[in-house]
Amino acid sequence: MSLVLDPAAQDLLFREARTANTFTDEPVTDEQVQAIYDLVKYGPTAFNQTPLRVVLVRSAEARERLVTHMAEGNQAKTAAAPLVAILAADNEFHEELPSLLPHFPQAKDLFFSERPARESAASLNAALQAAYFIVGVRAAGLAAGPMTGYDAAGIQKEFLDDDHTPLMVVNIGKPGEDAWFPRSPRLSFEDVVTTV
Ligand SMILES: Cc1cc2nc3c(=O)[nH]c(=O)nc-3n(C[C@H](O)[C@H](O)[C@H](O)COP(=O)(O)O)c2cc1C
Repeated sequence: MSLVLDPAAQDLLFREARTANTFTDEPVTDEQVQAIYDLVKYGPTAFNQTPLRVVLVRSAEARERLVTHMAEGNQAKTAAAPLVAILAADNEFHEELPSLLPHFPQAKDLFFSERPARESAASLNAALQAAYFIVGVRAAGLAAGPMTGYDAAGIQKEFLDDDHTPLMVVNIGKPGEDAWFPRSPRLSFEDVVTTV
């Protein structure tokens, strides 16, 4: 009663949405990924810094290279998913800041002239955007399989550069047979929320 979002949409995005470990062969198109991005780009980030960057791993050759950097338990599903995305944080996001924050262009030099400050901001805000991205995948009627079980330095060297830090690799597609592990419990409201 307290939620205004249509109950079917609540189920699609959260209650019935699961982390997929197997996928059908149905392709995930660039149009779908663009629709997902064009929805989730509105999710908030500090100073509107939007530091998330996405590498779509489409070619068989790139997929093979990626799989070698995944933890053993993540290799088969990363090899088989219709689409795999590397989500990364851009530690040089401040270059875009004056155009992303036109009412406060001074923010770039005031807050982000030092690399450590940028890395810490990029890590938090790109992670937020990664979460929006996963929900966006679900909004497209697809399932996401986010993973951090990988050799981060290897992925950074192979697919990114010194300015881009890998955050997670996400398998994307329609869930296949036996796609889910058993649903694990969640903490209750009482466990998590305190009021002062
Ligand atoms: C950031 C992140 C990293 C994860 N890394 C892995 C991973 O390396 N391998 C794996 O099998 N699952 C991984 N998972 C999947 C989680 O275990 C799964 O999303 C969680 O248990 C909830 O599962 P459910 O959506 O089916 O309820 C990861 C999930 C997230 C969000």
